[in-house]
Amino acid sequence: MDRRALLAGAGALVLTTPACAAYPPQVPALKSVAPYPLGVAARHLHLADPDWAKLAVANFSQLTAEWEMKMEYMLRDDGSLQFDRADALAAFARKYGMKVHGHTLVWYAQDGLTFQRLKGDPDAFLNAYVGYIQKVMGRYRGIVRGWDVVNEPVWNDGRGLRPCLWREVLGDDYIGLAFEAARQADPAAVLFLNDYNLELTPAKRTTFLRLCETLLKNGAPLQGIGTQMHISADLAPGAVTTAIRDIASLGLQVHVSELDISLRGDPLANVVEPRLNQLKVFEAVIAAYNDVPAVQRYGLTVWSLRDKDSWLNSARERKGPIPDEPALFDDRGRPKAMAERFVAMMR
Ligand code: XIL
Repeated sequence: MDRRALLAGAGALVLTTPACAAYPPQVPALKSVAPYPLGVAARHLHLADPDWAKLAVANFSQLTAEWEMKMEYMLRDDGSLQFDRADALAAFARKYGMKVHGHTLVWYAQDGLTFQRLKGDPDAFLNAYVGYIQKVMGRYRGIVRGWDVVNEPVWNDGRGLRPCLWREVLGDDYIGLAFEAARQADPAAVLFLNDYNLELTPAKRTTFLRLCETLLKNGAPLQGIGTQMHISADLAPGAVTTAIRDIASLGLQVHVSELDISLRGDPLANVVEPRLNQLKVFEAVIAAYNDVPAVQRYGLTVWSLRDKDSWLNSARERKGPIPDEPALFDDRGRPKAMAERFVAMMR
């Protein structure tokens, strides 16, 4: 074995068998080394878990509500709004000096009875649409730093906009209308269009970026792009690099908004060592994000604190009997190799 092969082998050994090295790795607070806000997804139930709270506060400087700022939770069938849990998340963030990112106002996947009932009356529908955005954003004015105004507007294959109730009643301009309403509701908030698979499917990215350009041309107050980055360990690292570079080329704020790297791809093609691949993909994300001009780096958010908190391990999403390990911290809150690498890459 030549020297290079031996060294590569040694590196792989350290990465794949952490029990041989100091484990868990000694890792400083992630937020203390990050030159941009570091966010974590949070649900109301996490606030009652002291281990979750301690780890989140120590390592992250920003929160995104994982569910309780979405329409499905906030808008009741009688049209009234339910702010209790979002308020609790905001209070938690305030108490611990964390920023809040708002997620999300308009999403094809959630509409609700209130809006379905107004389908036949476009004027009333538009009033309710603008009203919803203004009430929700108004409540968190000065608290929420930026909002995902519209979430996941583009079809997976990039063929165009997705069908949804908003588009059906308001037309393609449902997006521009939402941004206008958002601007009025909170002139200081950074307004995002957020989507996924922008790295996996270049055709989707092209359509998404064209949509951003069209919105800007038409005067919409779009200020940021959220790239969710629910990715898998079998993704080619270069796909991440190209995507982040392309996204940043528009000059808007860039938020890596929901990062998790699944070990359970569909299937895990060509992956010899999933954890090692996961680390390589993670490195590519961090390297590419670090290359984005500092003024455009809104922050990087992970979509669960520990592996066990991940939506990928929920009854609905879970693939097979073996739990996924997409997070930077393990079930016991110990930093994993990705956390260690994050710190090393900031030096
Ligand atoms: C997911 C949450 O993680 C789950 O807890 C919830 O039940 C469903 O939504 N893209 C998004 C997020 O924009 O809002 C989704 O979050 C994950 C995919």
